[in-house]
Amino acid sequence: MSISRRGFIGSAIAASVATGLSAQDLNAQDKAKDDAPRAAQPSGTSKRPIIVCANNGVNYLDAAFIFLKNGGDTLDAALRVVKGPEDDPNDDSVGLGGLPNEEGVVELDACCMHGPTRRAGSVGGVRNIKNVSAVSKAVMEHTGHVMLVGEGAERFAVAMGFPRENLLTEHSRKIWLLWKEHHSTDWWGPGLADPQWKPPSTSPQAELWEQRIQRLEEHAAQLGIEPEFRMAAIRRVLFPPTGTIHCSALNDKGEISGCTTTSGLAFKLPGRCGDSPIIGAGCYTDQDVGSAGATGSGEENIKVAGAHTIVENMRHGMSPLEAGLDALKRIARNYNNDRSKLKFIDMTYYILRKDGAYAGVSLWEGYSTRRHQIAVHDGTKRSEVTVPLFKGVSHEFPPFPVTPKELTQDSVYVK
Ligand code: GLY
Repeated sequence: MSISRRGFIGSAIAASVATGLSAQDLNAQDKAKDDAPRAAQPSGTSKRPIIVCANNGVNYLDAAFIFLKNGGDTLDAALRVVKGPEDDPNDDSVGLGGLPNEEGVVELDACCMHGPTRRAGSVGGVRNIKNVSAVSKAVMEHTGHVMLVGEGAERFAVAMGFPRENLLTEHSRKIWLLWKEHHSTDWWGPGLADPQWKPPSTSPQAELWEQRIQRLEEHAAQLGIEPEFRMAAIRRVLFPPTGTIHCSALNDKGEISGCTTTSGLAFKLPGRCGDSPIIGAGCYTDQDVGSAGATGSGEENIKVAGAHTIVENMRHGMSPLEAGLDALKRIARNYNNDRSKLKFIDMTYYILRKDGAYAGVSLWEGYSTRRHQIAVHDGTKRSEVTVPLFKGVSHEFPPFPVTPKELTQDSVYVK
């Protein structure tokens, strides 16, 4: 499960209010690379065919790899991977069971690019249709358009034979009810990018936290959320995630495609689209160069056209690793490299060059509960930690002065 808004507070970065990227930062990056267990494979030792994806797709790589190796189309292989989490009601980051918007309605976004035919398709804010990644392919194949949104996209999907179904599972509904109870008034912003935004005070306020958590726990119990999942549900309420999956696939002929799918930011404003349906942000594939995709803070990625930036960087000679780190530096630049703000941003890129070289990079190493990982299959299936731009972990957003320990456990809300 790729959850991007955010894991908790690491002590390591609590003290690191940076004024800019410096030689020290670069040393920290190198050190992080050295320290990283199972670090992402450096560019150059590449194999084809190969599939890379966000780690919530790892269980679906075997079947997709066999399909690709047997001559299956690269986009169809990538779509097979992301269909797994889309169909899984226990993955609350995409498709069926995705966390809903503030009105309790699941709205999905997806896009795809097919390298061999140089085509693209996209859908945004789609309700009642589970496999929106396949709908984005249908837009690509059966219309003269690239992007359909909202009701029009839903009606198109139904016309193409996709079934309408209720995407709000009982689990996700209960978490949404808990969120509604907690947020007596809706919080719409302003966000981090607002010039007036100030980092929160760092005083502990432990009592306040205890009261909040206790109230949430009581309400979670009343809603019938099982005790073992209560902290995971509370975590999602306090720090709405932006779970997503991206996948890129390359065959032995050098054909390459990519796709990205998501339920977007939990409890978002209805109609909010993040980066995932934006060609060039959530996903970009160029048959001449390679493919890239993103999970994490959608708004930040849109502003740097992340996936497109990475592919263009590779076109101009950068390795996948260099290309990805450069895109992350652009996000950092948008905040004048101010880590007191950047610590609330999370971004991971999955990068595959046409020769099979790949990289997984992230702004931070992960969140308190886990490292960011890229899943890879090139005949051997594995998960590898990403190479971070900054050492340390990202913080929850919206920010709170201190996050209690019980919320920093690895608490995936999966039955
Ligand atoms: N990256 C997914 C989103 O922000 O919606």
